[in-house]
Amino acid sequence: MEKIIDEKVQGTSVKNGIKLGNTRKLYIESYGCQMNFSDSEIVASILSKEGFNTTDSLNDADLVLVNTCSIREKAELTVRKRLEKFNAVKKTRPHMKVGVLGCMAERLKSQLLEEEKIVDMVVGPDAYKDLPNLVRDVDEGRNAVNVILSKEETYGDIAPVRLNSNGVTAFVSITRGCDNMCTFCVVPFTRGRERSRDPHSIVEEVNDLWNRGFKEVTLLGQNVDSYLWYGGGLKKDFKEASEIQKATSVNFAQLLGKVAEAQPKLRIRFSTSNPQDMTMEVVKTMAKYRNICNYIHLPVQSGSNRILKAMNRLHTREEYFSLIDNIRKIIPDCAISQDMITGFPTETEEDHEDTLSLMDYVKYDFGFMFAYSERPGTLAARKLEDAVPQETKKRRLSEIIEKQLTHSLYRTQLHIGKTEEVLIEGVSKKSSSEWMGRNSQNTVVVFPKENYKVGDFVMVKIESCTSATLKGTAIGYSENN
Ligand code: SAH
Ligand code: F3S
Repeated sequence: MEKIIDEKVQGTSVKNGIKLGNTRKLYIESYGCQMNFSDSEIVASILSKEGFNTTDSLNDADLVLVNTCSIREKAELTVRKRLEKFNAVKKTRPHMKVGVLGCMAERLKSQLLEEEKIVDMVVGPDAYKDLPNLVRDVDEGRNAVNVILSKEETYGDIAPVRLNSNGVTAFVSITRGCDNMCTFCVVPFTRGRERSRDPHSIVEEVNDLWNRGFKEVTLLGQNVDSYLWYGGGLKKDFKEASEIQKATSVNFAQLLGKVAEAQPKLRIRFSTSNPQDMTMEVVKTMAKYRNICNYIHLPVQSGSNRILKAMNRLHTREEYFSLIDNIRKIIPDCAISQDMITGFPTETEEDHEDTLSLMDYVKYDFGFMFAYSERPGTLAARKLEDAVPQETKKRRLSEIIEKQLTHSLYRTQLHIGKTEEVLIEGVSKKSSSEWMGRNSQNTVVVFPKENYKVGDFVMVKIESCTSATLKGTAIGYSENN
């Protein structure tokens, strides 16, 4: 691998991977899911070979890239606002070029060039390897667009340049795209068909991270439980695979086991799990390896069977409960978090009550909650009227947020009095004399620094909490250190 000098810089935009001899400056901003942040590291790696170093200053940039999100309308509006800002900067730096990457690029394609005059380049999530050519086109004064979705591209052969890195935790992509077709969701359209990455390249990346001092990885996919490697190809073609391919295939539970064994001291997390695809084999694998964290992000979206069906979520509320029960039987202290949507078309007060009662049953550790936002092209947009009034969506949203806060506090309080292993990630936002880290359950823990340092595994006695944070005192290093 080429020589990369790492330096730590905070913020969304970054200056991290610096290759000696590079002269042009790339400013890259990322929005949306963790996968986008991870993709920006791949983009920085591809462009570092083309003479670009990253910069954290927009005013220095020769090339500005914005890696975009289309999941809700608001995400797109935020990006459009940023483009206005870039426009203002371009007035003083006329040679500066602007490219839109990610889901908005894929969704809007060349329409973006017409709507946003500042944009020179539009690149979809599977086309980043074409960036050297696209940048050349733009340099020569032509607009450039590549939004071709791939059935194979996983970027498994590219070593990401770690941007914004704390040097301790990192993301590793294991699948791309999604085949689930939830009726509200734009992701299958913007990120294409689901593909899994070769387990060897995943383990190699994980080993490399460990050798460079990283202590925790999060395996990323839209739906990690659906991971399946049998030598390449789409998941749906597995049925036609040869007997040898079937016999040597690797599913998500097996991948987790491989990663956990490759680096027994490295903490392993994963995101996102889907209730309809999660298996007990995965939960048992989590229980088997101490370095796999006891935390599952398990979005449910709604507690109503009728709405779940309309969303094309292929499980019932009862099946979800039995999954939760089984997880807790095998891993009693497993943290579970949710994503919820309020105001999906046709949602009634009764459906909303079902969501609240589902939350009461599970008592999630935390959650991410949203008002339904109609996305053009999705099945819900085509077939169902977005008829729940905005005020009703918002009111239901505040009710579930309020409930979640109560449950989060209930969960954090259960940690008081326990001594838990915490991996130190950095300085606490509130106090420079305290460290911030996470326990296995992914809850933030804050404690006085003493002589510990970033990257240490420390045993912390938990003494108090808010609904989001645990506070305590370190009592020594963990045996993992
Ligand atoms: N499987 C994915 C889900 C991506 S979208 C993952 O890896 O997280 C993240 C969350 O955004 C979804 O779980 C859902 O709760 C929310 N979301 C998706 N589409 C939405 C829409 N049209 N309106 C509101 N929220 C939406
Ligand atoms: Fe979207 Fe459903 Fe896939 S929420 S990312 S279509 S699992």
